[in-house]
Amino acid sequence: MPGDVRILLCQCSSIFEHEVRACIRKGARTVDEVAEACDAGTGCGSCRGTIETVLDEEAQRRRKGDGLPDALLQLPLFDLIGKKRQRPGPRGASG
Ligand code: FES
Repeated sequence: MPGDVRILLCQCSSIFEHEVRACIRKGARTVDEVAEACDAGTGCGSCRGTIETVLDEEAQRRRKGDGLPDALLQLPLFDLIGKKRQRPGPRGASG
């Protein structure tokens, strides 16, 4: 299944990308907080830039959710809602 692809983000600690995202969704907001939560980035440090990118993606995802709780944003349904919000409204509907 396409959604089951797992990407090894941190080779030193054998941490996958989805595990880093889970740490961020549980509250980690910096590379150091992610490292503390799951050990990613605590070895050679070469993955810390990638962790920063994932942090940025997750922050963008939270903004798109307009304050919905992080737990809800993990559901695929809310990806669809976020995309729908970006579409222009029906013709003549703007104030
Ligand atoms: S690959 Fe993550 S610390 Fe080395």
